[in-house]
Amino acid sequence: MAKRYAVILAAGQGTRMKSKLYKVLHPVMGRPMVQHVIDQLNPVNLDKMITIVGHGAEKVAEHIGNESEMVLQGEQLGTGHAVIQAEDLLKNKDGTTIVVCGDTPLITSETYRSLFDHHEQEGAKATVLTAKAPDPSGYGRVVRNDQNEVERIVEHKDAEDAERQVDEINTGTYCFDNKALFEALQHVSNDNVQGEYYLPDVIEILQSRDEKVSAFQTPDFEETLGINDRVALAHAEKILKKRINEKHMRNGATLIDPDNTYISPDVTIEQDVLIHPGSIIKGSTTIKADAEIGPHTEIDNCYIGQASIIKQSVAKDSYIGDRVQIGPYSHIRPEASIGNEAKIGNFVEVKKSSLGNKSKVSHLSYIGDAEVGSNVNIGCGTITVNYDGKNKYLTTIEDDAFIGCNSNLVAPVTVGEGSYVAAGSTITKDVPEDALSIARARQANKEGYASRIRNQKKD
Ligand code: UD1
Ligand code: CA
Repeated sequence: MAKRYAVILAAGQGTRMKSKLYKVLHPVMGRPMVQHVIDQLNPVNLDKMITIVGHGAEKVAEHIGNESEMVLQGEQLGTGHAVIQAEDLLKNKDGTTIVVCGDTPLITSETYRSLFDHHEQEGAKATVLTAKAPDPSGYGRVVRNDQNEVERIVEHKDAEDAERQVDEINTGTYCFDNKALFEALQHVSNDNVQGEYYLPDVIEILQSRDEKVSAFQTPDFEETLGINDRVALAHAEKILKKRINEKHMRNGATLIDPDNTYISPDVTIEQDVLIHPGSIIKGSTTIKADAEIGPHTEIDNCYIGQASIIKQSVAKDSYIGDRVQIGPYSHIRPEASIGNEAKIGNFVEVKKSSLGNKSKVSHLSYIGDAEVGSNVNIGCGTITVNYDGKNKYLTTIEDDAFIGCNSNLVAPVTVGEGSYVAAGSTITKDVPEDALSIARARQANKEGYASRIRNQKKD
C-alpha cells in the first residue's frame, strides 16, 4: 500500500472566536478540537502525522505532546503557506498526504479512510472532500467544469455572485499525491482578497496541467462543519453530543432526555444504566450496569459501580462501589473511595477519604482525610476537623462505630471499633474500641427559671 501522511493545520489565531484561547484548543464535548482531529486520524494507520502550529504554539504543543510531529509556521500567511512548512519532512516522499484543518473536529475515521481509498483508486493527484451545505456562506465553493470535474475552489470572499450560489463546499480536507502537492505549492500566489496563500489553489494548478483532480462528496455535511466562531462551536457540540448519546443508547443505556445529557467521548457506560436529564459525565468515567445517574448530576473521571444511584450531586476523581446511594446534593471530591452499599446523603461532602461497605453518612456532614471502616453510622452534622490552617490530619473511624449527631472529630484521632460517640461531642483524643465517649458540657436544668425571666421582662 502507498505510504500515507497527514498534515493538520493548526496555526491560525481564530480571530472570529474572539477568545484568548487559541481556536484549535477550544473544547468540543470537553476535548480540544485539534485532539478530535488527531484521534480520528490515528486509526487510519498513517506513516507520519505533522501538525502545523503557530499562534499559541507552545500551548498547542503542550497539549499534543508526542502524538504528532510539529512544525512551526512563524507567520500565518494562509493555508497553502502552512502546508509548505512541512516541506522538509515530506518533500521527497512517495505516497499520499491528507491535509486536514484543525477546526473540523467532527470528521470521522471512516470518512478519512474513504477519502484515502477513493483518491488512491482514482489514481488522482488531488482529491477534495466536499459536501452540500444548506447554508454554504463562509466556505470555499467547489467550481466544476462541463465534464463535472472540479476545476477550482473559490473562497467565499473572492467569489462572484454566481459562484456564491454554489452549495457544494470545500470541507478543507484533501488527499494529494505528496510530491505533486509540494511542487504545485511553489506556484500558489497570494493575489486574492485576503492576500493569503490559499491551499485550495493547488487544485486549479493541477487541473490546468491536466492532472487528475477528483472530488469525494460526503452526504453528511454536519460532519464537516468548520468551527470559525462560537455559534459554530455550539453547533458542533450539539452534533457530537448527539453522536455520543446515540452510541450509548444503542449499547443499552437509557437516556431520558438526550438533548440535555452531556457525555464526553471517553466515558464507558454499561447496559441498563439510566441517565436522567441535566447530567454531565466527563473524563474517563466508567458506569457499570444498572446504575442510575441524575437528574442534574456532574460526574468527572469516576468509577461508578453496579446499580449505584447518584442524584443531584457532583463527583470527581473518585471510586464508587456497587449499590451505593449518593445524594441528593452530595459533593464527592477527589480521591474518595466509597464501599459497596454505602450511603452518602444530602449536603454531605467527602474528600480524600475511604468509606467501607454499608457505611452511612446520611445528612449534613464533612468527611475529609478520613478512613472510615464498614458498617459505620455517621450522624447528621458530623465534621472531621482535618485542618489546622497549615497541615491536614487523618481521622480513622473503625468498623461498626456509631458517631452521634453534631460531633467534631479533631484529627489526628481514631474512633475504635464498635465504639459510640455521643451526640454533640468534640473528640480530641482517641476513643478505644467498644467505648462510649461523651465530650460535651453536662446539662444543668434550673427549674422554674423560665417564668422568672419572662416576668422580669414584663417590669
Ligand atoms: C478554509 C478553506 C475553505 C474551506 C474551509 C473549510 C482556505 C483558503 N480556505 O477556510 O475553502 O471551505 O476552510 O472549513 O484554505 N491555518 C494555518 N495557518 C494559516 C492559516 C490557517 O495553520 O496561515 C489553519 C487554521 O488554524 C485552521 C485552518 O488552517 O485550523 C483553516 O483556516 P481558516 O482560517 O479557518 O480557513 P477558512 O476561512 O475556514
Ligand atoms: Ca475554518
